[in-house]
Amino acid sequence: MIEAFTTPWGTRLEVHRQLDSTSRRAWQLGEAGADAGCVVVADRQTGGRGRRGRTWHSPAGLNLYFSLLLRPDLALDVVPALALAAGAALCRSLDLYHLKPRIKWPNDVFANERKLAGILAELKPAGQGVDFVVIGIGINVNAGPDSFPLELRGAATSLKIETGREHSRSALLERVLKNLHTMLPQCGSGGLGSGLKDYIEERFFLAGRRVAIVSGKQKVYCRPQGIDTLGRLQVQDDGGCTQFFSAGEAQLLKKEM
Ligand code: BTN
Repeated sequence: MIEAFTTPWGTRLEVHRQLDSTSRRAWQLGEAGADAGCVVVADRQTGGRGRRGRTWHSPAGLNLYFSLLLRPDLALDVVPALALAAGAALCRSLDLYHLKPRIKWPNDVFANERKLAGILAELKPAGQGVDFVVIGIGINVNAGPDSFPLELRGAATSLKIETGREHSRSALLERVLKNLHTMLPQCGSGGLGSGLKDYIEERFFLAGRRVAIVSGKQKVYCRPQGIDTLGRLQVQDDGGCTQFFSAGEAQLLKKEM
């Protein structure tokens, strides 16, 4: 089991053997008026949620599943940047394993072309601003190749698969929380601070790739150029026009078209 400790926000980690979803629990805490910095972690999730209505496979004893409650003083359009900042904090935490993880917009973390971690940012608005944000993070830590459902094999990886050995989930969680605590405030009312934006661009998984961006009912074939301070993806579409996306999914195209 993951051991409880005091988080960098000065809160006590809420550790559960099993939850349907740590993000659902953190959302309940937010609704109940809990302070920013509450962190909920579970050994296993029975209803782990991914982006775009997907499920997040969450077997017991192997990986990290946790959610952080925040009450940032930010306008709604800055929240995608906050989620990217969380991706950057994950990358920095994983640098220790010499994997050079990369951020795949909007907020996946990849190592060696496979998904190592995912982030789900959910917000409760208050006017033009935010009441609270729940940042839910899943990191594949000690999962072996057979631990993933068949449809994910080949697309997902874990720290154990990449490094050839097991890792302490508690130590990794502590390191990620420390980096979130120092890096998230670098996303302020103007969006990403310049150092953080540079770091994200340096770890930009989509650089030079050809992709299809699926956003709402739109599918746009393009080449990503980078991100702006609001965390929006800047692309050049096939017609040569510049477009910005604040949400969506980037599908890598295998063949150049
Ligand atoms: C994605 O890549 O689709 C985002 C996955 C986010 C999964 C994490 S696991 C902890 C937290 N609780 C959830 O139900 N989801 C997030």
